[in-house]
Amino acid sequence: MSLLKGTRVTWLGHATVLVQTAKGTHILIDPFIAHNPKYPRSFVLPEKIHYILLTHGHGDHISDAVPVAAKHGSTVVAIYELAAYVAGKGVADTIGMNVGGTVQLEEVAVTMVDAKHSAAAQDEHGTHYVGVAAGFVLEIADGPVLYHAGDTSVFGDMKLIAELYRPEVAMLPIGGHYTMGPKEAALAATFLSPRVILPLHFGTFPPLKGTPEELAGLVDSRIQVARLAPGESL
Ligand code: NI
Ligand code: MN
Repeated sequence: MSLLKGTRVTWLGHATVLVQTAKGTHILIDPFIAHNPKYPRSFVLPEKIHYILLTHGHGDHISDAVPVAAKHGSTVVAIYELAAYVAGKGVADTIGMNVGGTVQLEEVAVTMVDAKHSAAAQDEHGTHYVGVAAGFVLEIADGPVLYHAGDTSVFGDMKLIAELYRPEVAMLPIGGHYTMGPKEAALAATFLSPRVILPLHFGTFPPLKGTPEELAGLVDSRIQVARLAPGESL
């Protein structure tokens, strides 16, 4: 896809996305692997994953952050409390940030943006406060601007994300039940005006009923709705 200018964006099922820039920076967002029924089992992650971004503390977004960080030498980037939580679980390198802030990761400027969702983490000791749910904008130097919305409803301040960052690729949850569904994602598309939508967080479990076809029927035909199988790239 020419608008990606050499950046590879690979969907790994649910909300898990691997971004590999033309310069060779590898970023994995929301690693959900071992218990993700849609994870492509034959897919081989790159040996080095420089950064793991976590949108919020729910298990279907962070459950493989600790083992992947250990195996692939990754720095985990998340909201402050969630970064501290995974550090407590043994992740050696973390960057805690907060909503509205930007961190420069090699040639990628990563900004944490709003999402509307809950965010606690659960383990054998109970439920832990790990900050609020967020999304990420990735501005890749000499590359595209990507937006991963995390888990969220549609919200009016997506217009601010569009005004500030002009994402060309919007990765949006569409499954419904725990996030917005296609109807709401179609409104999000009017706020964001991306060139491409990569639908996330659908079909993984029975309640996540929204489909890319439904979304495609609701958005302006100038916006391409990607229909990838897990393991495929834009
Ligand atoms: Ni969630
Ligand atoms: Mn989720």
